[in-house]
Amino acid sequence: MSKLSSDWNNEAYVSLHLVQEMLRVAGLSPRSGYSHWIPEFRIESLRRVAKKWRVDFCIEDLSRHINFLVEVKSAANPIDDAARFQLRKYLEHSNKRFGLLIDPFTAEMYEYTNYSFNKLAEHRVEDVSKVKPVANFLWNFLESIKMRTISIHTSKGGVGKTTLVINIAYELARMGNRVLVIDLDEQANASLLLGVNKAEEIDNASSLEEIEQILDSFAGRKELVDFLKADKHQFRYQDYIYHSKFNNFMTLYDKGHIDVLPSSYRTKDTGLGDKPFRDRLLNQGLQSSNMAKDYDYIIIDTPPSYTDITWNGVSAAQYMIIPSQMEYLSAYGINNPIKQVKEVEQNTDGKRGKIIGIVPMMANNTNLYKTIKQLIQIRFKHIPILQEIKDSTYVGESLKCRNPMTEYAQRTGKGQDIAYQFQALTQQIIENINTIEKTESN
Ligand SMILES: Nc1ncnc2c1ncn2[C@@H]1O[C@H](COP(=O)(O)OP(=O)(O)OP(=O)(O)O)[C@@H](O)[C@H]1O
Ligand SMILES: [Mg+2]
Repeated sequence: MSKLSSDWNNEAYVSLHLVQEMLRVAGLSPRSGYSHWIPEFRIESLRRVAKKWRVDFCIEDLSRHINFLVEVKSAANPIDDAARFQLRKYLEHSNKRFGLLIDPFTAEMYEYTNYSFNKLAEHRVEDVSKVKPVANFLWNFLESIKMRTISIHTSKGGVGKTTLVINIAYELARMGNRVLVIDLDEQANASLLLGVNKAEEIDNASSLEEIEQILDSFAGRKELVDFLKADKHQFRYQDYIYHSKFNNFMTLYDKGHIDVLPSSYRTKDTGLGDKPFRDRLLNQGLQSSNMAKDYDYIIIDTPPSYTDITWNGVSAAQYMIIPSQMEYLSAYGINNPIKQVKEVEQNTDGKRGKIIGIVPMMANNTNLYKTIKQLIQIRFKHIPILQEIKDSTYVGESLKCRNPMTEYAQRTGKGQDIAYQFQALTQQIIENINTIEKTESN
């Protein structure tokens, strides 16, 4: 390595010529719709106990829902154990999960979680005048913990949104993914089907009073509205999340699982009170919870109405899937989610609000079905039409037993063709997202 100029002994020089360049080349702008740098980030709770209580940067990567701190060192004062200890303190007191230590020779990425502090990745800077390799290191790290957020949405009711949510979640989990389902609908059908809303007790209740008592018990449970309203500086997202009973259907060999952030009758705009930016609380919650490394996919079930709660889901998701029956009113309903998603796309420089496709639901062989499908293909020619899901009484049967279709088909021998359709659809969704992300990275 050639001898470094004495400029690199100065932290401000390293910050300007190495760190800030690295962030830009890795696709993180200082201030845009999808990323922010907060320089001299203050860690208030350290103020009284430590001399140094400002870290050089806090970076908010809004499109990936990841935050990380950056502490810059110099050639004269390079990374050492004292610097590592300091970063650990910053992470501990700022409720942030990731921290990058960087000097002209090395970049080290750390994680602080469950009171433990571990190095996740390291990069040797061979030539400090070339920023691309270290920017690649950062980009690869961010990609490696990327959580994909998908909303299932259309403004028409009863088209099969929730049916899609629970079956896609199950297929993703069977493939080994860690999945979180977020239920934004006050009907709470997804929460009931996924087995976190006392569905069995409700089934076995012998009177309306008993059902009311069960529903009342949700008033004391931490769930979606509480997550949305939580103080974002002081919260553990795990307190609001429950394991789905669908996990019982998985074999020991299936590595994935499903968690649920459940809903109930309490999920209403009025339940959010007069919080500022109340249509963006989900986004803030995902960002500040540090959950991005714990899930591969978040699937968001939305209500058919257009409320602040709905907008929370649409604007927090990178991707949207639009289910639609092939009949006039449903096809007409496709316009609304497209308009909403365009707005999100514009507000985030195209980092969010990407439509994966339209899923024809309750497909049949009638001429009307074929005609409307053709009309939709012509009208929305840039949006892929995905694998269809046939109209079948077995779908309703599987929901009645609170089974995903694949489990129902295996158990009863019925509806295997629909189970295959959900499997093929999930595969197609993953492939389409892979294609979108590959195109973006080039
Ligand atoms: N492929 C299918 N074949 C037959 N029936 C289906 C199919 N998909 C869904 N259904 C039925 O349609 C009804 C509505 O489904 P679902 O609850 O998933 O719709 P939704 O869009 O989530 O409704 P909402 O707008 O009320 O939230 C359910 O009774 C379900 O059993
Ligand atoms: Mg629904």
